[in-house]
Amino acid sequence: MNVLLLGSGGREHAIAWSIAKSPLLTELFIAPGNPGTAQHGKNLLIDTEDNSAIVTFCSERDINLLIVGPEAPLVNGVHDAILNDPRTKDITVIGPQKAGAMLEGSKDFSKQFMLRHGVPTAAYKTFEATTLNQGLAFLETLSPPYVLKCDGLAAGKGVLIEPTLEKAKSSLKNILEDGSFGAAGAKVVIEEFLDGTELSTFILTDGKDYLLLPTAKDYKCVGEGDTGLNTGGMGALSPAPVADEAFMRKVKEKVIARSLKGLQKEGIPYKGFLFIGLMRVGDEPKVIEYNVRMGDPETEAVLPLIESDLLAHFKALGEGKLSREEMIISSKCSTTVMMVSGGYPESYEKGKKIYGLNEIGPESMVFQAGTKEMNGEIFSSGGRVLTVTSVEETLSGALAKSYRNLNKLSFENSYYRKDIGYELANARED
Ligand code: AMP
Ligand code: GLY
Repeated sequence: MNVLLLGSGGREHAIAWSIAKSPLLTELFIAPGNPGTAQHGKNLLIDTEDNSAIVTFCSERDINLLIVGPEAPLVNGVHDAILNDPRTKDITVIGPQKAGAMLEGSKDFSKQFMLRHGVPTAAYKTFEATTLNQGLAFLETLSPPYVLKCDGLAAGKGVLIEPTLEKAKSSLKNILEDGSFGAAGAKVVIEEFLDGTELSTFILTDGKDYLLLPTAKDYKCVGEGDTGLNTGGMGALSPAPVADEAFMRKVKEKVIARSLKGLQKEGIPYKGFLFIGLMRVGDEPKVIEYNVRMGDPETEAVLPLIESDLLAHFKALGEGKLSREEMIISSKCSTTVMMVSGGYPESYEKGKKIYGLNEIGPESMVFQAGTKEMNGEIFSSGGRVLTVTSVEETLSGALAKSYRNLNKLSFENSYYRKDIGYELANARED
């Protein structure tokens, strides 16, 4: 198969690494990719939001499968563009069409969808500039902390959790009146705060059948002990220790089955990954959000645990044979720790030479994210620069390997959290 993969992060490096192992792969292209993906295929200078350039490339190079890493090209309708062109309409696309991408593209849409189909989630109401006063009054009926979510895509920064009523009111005014989040904040979802343990679940689905991937726990805060600003993710471990069998049964029944039934009922086609962000409240799952793609850095932890052929699963999905597939998952644990540029998620410097990449032993894998290559050397080019993944019998064993290898890597002002997974690793061994 000829495959085109869109994206340039650690997630895409992990996907490229995974499918490059498949005997079904003929040629792999990545647009735009990074030096990590270039180890497994050919990087291309194509803008991931230029649908016509993507369609033309797919047609000229006989692409059989298009895998869309990030959400933006999906919300931008790349899958629809492929279907609408007679030259490319038969290509399998991993990632939903625009209609399905709304599950991530609009919080208000996704909350209404959950309500319509009985998917458990936090109680909420949506407000816009014309209903600001009602929004302020609604806040007064809630108790702290207050959860405010911009309706549209806001690069992962559109959720505010405010400790006081005063702050919540002023943030709501900033978003709706002053437009502090631009168009993404034209509507705001205000919802009940859920007190529980967060975890990420992922399925690969054709809209009817699905394969369940390993679960994960993501560490979002930049600082140790889960302090400081929210980031795209500073590390992840898989499986999530709170995802025991009884809980996952409830997730399948109350969340996954109802979500897929809802899509079918509404006539929304859906082919690709669905990432369901959950809060375990007591013994019950509640959906925090849907994402229409895999998580980053969760992908870097999850894919190394999949022992079956991911590309074969994609192929089966395209042929309508997903129900015959079985995803084989290792019983081991996987951890990934992100190395970032000092200052991230606020301002940081780029262009720092990365040392030690050749010293990482086979016990760990480096997945590159914000990197670029110049004259055979690798430099930082973003906030999240690379991630180190290890797989072991225990979480603590995997973490020890990841940290041992992170120690060998450096660039000026590099930073990583030293405490990923430790509370869980200790709890498990007690
Ligand atoms: P999101 O951008 O939707 O992933 O939200 C960012 C983070 O905010 C989530 O990962 C949760 O930790 C937190 N969050 C979102 N909604 C809620 C909620 N209703 N209650 C508690 N925490 C929440
Ligand atoms: N790590 C969270 C996300 O990918 O949305």
